[in-house]
This record gives sequence, structure tokens and C-alpha cells, in this order.
Amino acid sequence: MMKYAISSLLFFSFVSTFAQDATKGAELYKQCIACHGAKGEGNVAQKAPKLSGQYDWYVERQILDIREGKLRKNEVMIPFVSKLSAQDVKDLAAYISQL
Ligand code: HEC
Repeated sequence: MMKYAISSLLFFSFVSTFAQDATKGAELYKQCIACHGAKGEGNVAQKAPKLSGQYDWYVERQILDIREGKLRKNEVMIPFVSKLSAQDVKDLAAYISQL
């Protein structure tokens, strides 16, 4: 019984760690609005691409690539994405994919 309780506890903490949370993503996205727009519509003057209608896995991949700076180099985005945790990136991607 105890063993079951512990393993289900571990299971649920595992699930909540890896699940995407679009509500947290919405909070994090506030710092992106100046460039990418409240609805992810992008901003020509900022040369910030449109993000709306994009898949969550693609958004996540691009954020990680920009952060690593190997495949994608973009000085403008680095300060905003370098502070994000892996979970933050997932939450943001979940939110952005709903825009
Ligand atoms: C100061 C303006 C600015 C801010 C703030 C900003 N970005 Fe960007 N973002 C850009 C620019 C410019 C590009 C285009 C990069 C390039 O040309 O490679 C970009 C590219 C991206 C891309 C790639 C889009 C694609 O289709 O490949 C994603 C995803 C993204 N930003 C997400 C975010 C998120 C999430 C935040 C907030 C945490 C954020 N950005 C904050 C300017 C900004």
C-alpha cells in the first residue's frame, strides 16, 4: 500500500513537471508582446515574426535554437530567452500555439 502511494506520488509529480501549462505561458508571454504582439501577430518594424498559428513543438525548438545560438543567431532575442527554464519554454510554446 505504502509502495503504491509513493509510486503514484512520483508519477504525479513527474506528470506535472513535464506537462505544459498555457496559463503560466500566458504570464511569461507578456515580455514577448512588445515585439511579437499580444496575439502573436508579429511586428514588421521590429522584424519580429508572426508566431500565431504555429505548432508548440516548432516554437519550443526555435526558442531552444535561438538560446543555444548555434543554429540560429539572434542578439535581440537572446536576453529574453536565456533566462527561461526548460519548463518555461514548454509553457510558452503551449500558450503561443493557441494564439
Ligand atoms: C526585442 C524584440 C523581441 C522580443 C522581446 C522577443 N522576440 Fe522573439 N524574435 C524577435 C526577432 C527579431 C526574431 C527573428 C529572429 C531571426 O530573424 O532569426 C524572433 C524570433 C522568434 C521565434 C522564432 C519564430 C519562427 O517562426 O521561427 C520565436 C519562437 C520567438 N521569437 C519567441 C519569442 C518569445 C517566446 C519571446 C518572449 C520570451 C520573444 N520571442 C521575445 C524579436 C523579439
